[in-house]
Amino acid sequence: MPPLPVIIDCDPGIDDTLALLTAFVSPELDILGITPVCGNQPLDRTLRNALQICELGGRTDIPVYAGCARPLLRAPIHGQFHGKTGLGNTVLPEPVKTAEPTSAVRFLTDTLRAAAARGAPVTLCALGPMTNLATALRMAPSIAGGIARIVMMGGAYREPGNRTMTSEFNVLADPHAAAIVFSSNIPIVALALDATHQVILTPDHVPQFAQAGGRLSTTLAELMAFWDRNDPGRYGSRGGPLHDPLVIAYLLAPHLFTTQRARIFVECHSELCMGQTIADWYGKSGLAPNADIVTRVDAEGVIGLVLERLSRYAAK
Ligand code: RIB
Ligand code: CA
Repeated sequence: MPPLPVIIDCDPGIDDTLALLTAFVSPELDILGITPVCGNQPLDRTLRNALQICELGGRTDIPVYAGCARPLLRAPIHGQFHGKTGLGNTVLPEPVKTAEPTSAVRFLTDTLRAAAARGAPVTLCALGPMTNLATALRMAPSIAGGIARIVMMGGAYREPGNRTMTSEFNVLADPHAAAIVFSSNIPIVALALDATHQVILTPDHVPQFAQAGGRLSTTLAELMAFWDRNDPGRYGSRGGPLHDPLVIAYLLAPHLFTTQRARIFVECHSELCMGQTIADWYGKSGLAPNADIVTRVDAEGVIGLVLERLSRYAAK
């Protein structure tokens, strides 16, 4: 089976880092490009982090394109759990790799237009606010034909929000972008908090990740230790949810996930519920479902998969 062409849109971010490192050693994926966006951190930092992660993971061959520096309409908000740099306490070397001269939006429109023309659509992995993709769709709506599906980490359907009572960070950080994507009729696989809160990385996992990572062991141990949210009231244990790596795990092992079809919407007007994602499970909207929402995850299976992939760095 030929490798799956993917573009990874992200806002590194500690969990984005784990997702990228997992993808880098997965030959099932042909990573066409990485498109950092303003999210967990301002763009200059998510871009720098992405370049550093490519060097950390030995994948400087993958082009990185600078994305949007602000959400479409709302004021920027940033992550609360990724530390000052977005990479916790981890200090990586100054990146030698530089971003491509082309913007992320131009890369998306050029690449997806060509993919549509060839009849070889690309899978979009959305790990942060979807500003880049929404902007590209506005600039060139026909690129939708070049997207096989969007596998996104974001939203909260039966789960409460993690940034506000109702809303998950990626969607809240740019709800208008999410609205453009949700109304595009591009097939979506939604890994929301409903899924990611089933996969909690606890302090017990830290040594496993450290041992698995070979030359990355120190960095992985640092990142995982920082990711310990200490919120047992919320998650039922110490630790933090494995958000973004679930997108990569879904592509590698979809059998570990159970989904339910629904039409998905996002609230863009209410001050109280801005960014809330709503699932039309029973066809009340009269609109056809556009998403497979992940409702159940084999948590140990996913953690084992990520650990196995990270252990490949030991051999590198
Ligand atoms: O709500 C979790 C999401 O917000 C993850 O993608 C994390 O990296 C942050 O961007
Ligand atoms: Ca992210």
